[in-house]
Amino acid sequence: ARAQIIVDRDFVLADLDRRVFGTFVEHLGRCVYGGIYEPGHPTADENGFRGDVMELTKELGATIVRYPGGNFMSGYNWEDAVGPAENRPKKLDLAWFSTETNQFGTNEFMDWCRKTEIEPMLGVNLGTRGADEAREFLEYCNHPGGSHFAEMRKSHGYDEPHDVKFWCLGNEMDGPWQICQKTAEEYGRVALETAKVMRWLDPTLTLSACGSSHRQMPTYGSWEYEVLDHCYEQVDFISLHTYFANKADDIEDYFGVIDQMDSFIKEVVAICDAVGAKKRASKRIMLSFDEWNVWYKAHTIEHMRKPGWPEAPALLEEIYNVEDALVVGGALITLINNADRVKTACIAQLVNVIGPIMTETGGPAWRQTIFHPFALSSRYGHGRVMRTEVRTPNFSTKTVPEAPLLVAAVVDDPTTGRNTVFALNRSVSESLDLEVELRGLGTGRRLVEACELHNANLKATNTKAAPNNVVPQQNRDVSVEGERLRVKLKPLSWNVIVTE
Ligand code: AHR
Repeated sequence: ARAQIIVDRDFVLADLDRRVFGTFVEHLGRCVYGGIYEPGHPTADENGFRGDVMELTKELGATIVRYPGGNFMSGYNWEDAVGPAENRPKKLDLAWFSTETNQFGTNEFMDWCRKTEIEPMLGVNLGTRGADEAREFLEYCNHPGGSHFAEMRKSHGYDEPHDVKFWCLGNEMDGPWQICQKTAEEYGRVALETAKVMRWLDPTLTLSACGSSHRQMPTYGSWEYEVLDHCYEQVDFISLHTYFANKADDIEDYFGVIDQMDSFIKEVVAICDAVGAKKRASKRIMLSFDEWNVWYKAHTIEHMRKPGWPEAPALLEEIYNVEDALVVGGALITLINNADRVKTACIAQLVNVIGPIMTETGGPAWRQTIFHPFALSSRYGHGRVMRTEVRTPNFSTKTVPEAPLLVAAVVDDPTTGRNTVFALNRSVSESLDLEVELRGLGTGRRLVEACELHNANLKATNTKAAPNNVVPQQNRDVSVEGERLRVKLKPLSWNVIVTE
């Protein structure tokens, strides 16, 4: 089959905010302990940070990292995990029924971010706590000195403020599983008042309110509307969360999650703008897709909780295969194509817990299949997202009656002259002969990179024994002539083609 994309130098959607290539570290399972932090590991540095995981995080190209949760955040006392390690209390974490040793806390996280060259995104506990804790935590992190909590930070060895800019106001406050769930009215009021005091303390902050935990929540839509009706003026972002599943073990049906993600984004934009219109506000709320990934295999009760309040048990250790990587690649294209409103996004999570990176405690670290589309998107996703005219055959899934076979985004960087086409061919049987017209983007282009993620075995995975079983390959079926790019996209393949 044939497909075509036309872009024009003058038709630009938005600059791509690099924070859409964010990730997430929660005190959950082996994400922190045995993931990013493992004193005594052969690659650990003087802080106990695993060097192999830091290297892989850099290679992943993650730009911002959300911390400390997740559900964990709604019962967290940040004070437990600062100061001398030997004085830190062990606590029971009611989110994941584990014992939290608090050996890793805010200052360790900030050190890890600095070393990994990644921006922090912190969250405040609006479950068991509220505005008071938020202002104290913020004072500890961002105030230069001369006040109780700023001096406490200094006494812990951190003279300079951490200067964290992006803050989440709680986590999934609509969910009955959340420690201290709230109604939209309760949460909207708390978010407003917390945002107010946080801004009075530090007017440079970017604040994100909780949207629905997912699109199937019974309060979805009305939650966003009511929450924003309360706090529209005080917040900058609203969050979205989604986890994809291949429940029917049907790849075509599974691909429908990409279209659903796009609808989800557009619906939340519409709700934000409806509240804005009601308030006659010129301000626009941006979207923080701060939890997204595939998660369904490690979703049974045994994967979610282990008996006996263990420390860092193996929880949510999803093993990703080729079809999961194709879906993650498609989701990344969707985030890019909504760059006008989605300004941050976090693949959930980073390591071991539904993560692109896997480790063995005491052993090696390796890249899961989903690592590859993420790393390539971050490596080549620079510049302006172009408006695309995509001409493609359609297919139908059980949930989406008319879905395009080709899902694509085009990003162009005028500063380097580089242009990148991200393309997913969702056909199970047919290659797509794709022609891309790069109008006005310069003749005499040359090919920089053409690679594809494709594997005849959709269930293939990467393991400790075979960490490079699924890796991107060069696509040689590509040519560039003037402003025209031609490439053959294999059935069920995710592709990146870079020219300059
Ligand atoms: O990422 C795992 C969990 O999923 C998070 O803690 C929570 O916010 C979501 O329900």
